[in-house]
Amino acid sequence: MVVVKTLPEMRALRQQLDTPVGFVPTMGYLHLGHLALVKRARRENPTVIVSVYVNPCQFGPSEDFAGYPRELNRDLELLQTEGVDVVFVPSDDEMYPPEFSSWVDVEKVTEHLEGASRPGHFRGVATIVAKLFNIVRPSRAYFGEKDAQQVLVIKRMVADLNMGIEIAVEPTVRESDGLAMSSRNSYLNPEERRAATVLFKALMLARQLREGGEEDAEKTRWRMISLIQEEPLARIDYVSIADAETLEELNSLDRPALASLAVRIGKTRLIDNMPL
Ligand code: PAJ
Repeated sequence: MVVVKTLPEMRALRQQLDTPVGFVPTMGYLHLGHLALVKRARRENPTVIVSVYVNPCQFGPSEDFAGYPRELNRDLELLQTEGVDVVFVPSDDEMYPPEFSSWVDVEKVTEHLEGASRPGHFRGVATIVAKLFNIVRPSRAYFGEKDAQQVLVIKRMVADLNMGIEIAVEPTVRESDGLAMSSRNSYLNPEERRAATVLFKALMLARQLREGGEEDAEKTRWRMISLIQEEPLARIDYVSIADAETLEELNSLDRPALASLAVRIGKTRLIDNMPL
C-alpha cells in the first residue's frame, strides 16, 4: 500500500495504475461503514484508492471541524488489512491554496434537510469531491446510503458536469442496536450512546407504519417526533418524510419516500435515514 501526501505524487502514480480504478473518499476515523465501501471497491476493481481528508470547507463556523476525530495511523492499518493500493492524504495547503476561488454549487436537492440545516455544507462537499475526482480520476466511486442526500448531490453533480464516473451506493452499516456507524459516535458518553438509539427507533417506527398501510406522511412524521421527544437527551433538528429523489416533503406516501432525521444527543449532532 502506498501512502501519497502530495498532488504531484498522486498524479504521477495515477498514470501507472491498472484500470478501472475504484475510489472511496473519506474523512478518516474509519469504521465498518467505511470499510464496507472499501471491501466492495476491492471486489470490483483492480486498483483501489481511498482518500483520508477532513475537508474544512464542509464544516460551518460553529461546527466540529477542529474536534473532528483523527487517527491516521489506525486508519492506514485498517486500509492495509483491506488490501487497498493507494491512500491519498492531501494537505489543506495543497487543496485550498490562498488564491483558491472556484466552487461547485449543486442547486435544488441541496435546499432541504442537511442543506437547509447546514448552509454551505454541500458546496463544500461537492467542491472537494469534484477536486478529488479530478485528481484521482476514478472509474467508479463508492458512497454510503448513511448520507443519502450526499449521494443525490454527488450523482447530480456527476451527471450535470459530465464527469463520467459511476457512483456506487452501499447500505448503512449499523451497530447491533441499530445505531448507524459514524465517526461522530465517538463523541457520545455511555448515557448518550444509549439515548442515540432513538434515531433508529424512530425510523423503524416509520417503516412499520408504512408497512401497516399508513399513507399519511404528516401523521408518520408526528409519530416519529413524539417517540423522539420521549428521550430526554434528544433534541430534534429535523424529522422528514420526503420524496426519495427530490427530497421535497410529502403529504402522502404515494411514491418512494425517504424518512430521515437529524437529532442532537447532548452536543453531538447525529443523522440517519431509511427508505420507505
Ligand atoms: P465520511 O463521513 O468519512 O464518510 C465517507 C463515506 O462513508 C461516505 O460515503 C459515507 O456515506 C460513508 N459512510 C459513513 N458511515 C457509514 C455507515 N454507517 N454505513 C455505510 N456507509 C457509511 O462523507 C464524507 O466523509 C465526506 O462528506 C466526503 C464524501 C469524504 C467529502 O469530504
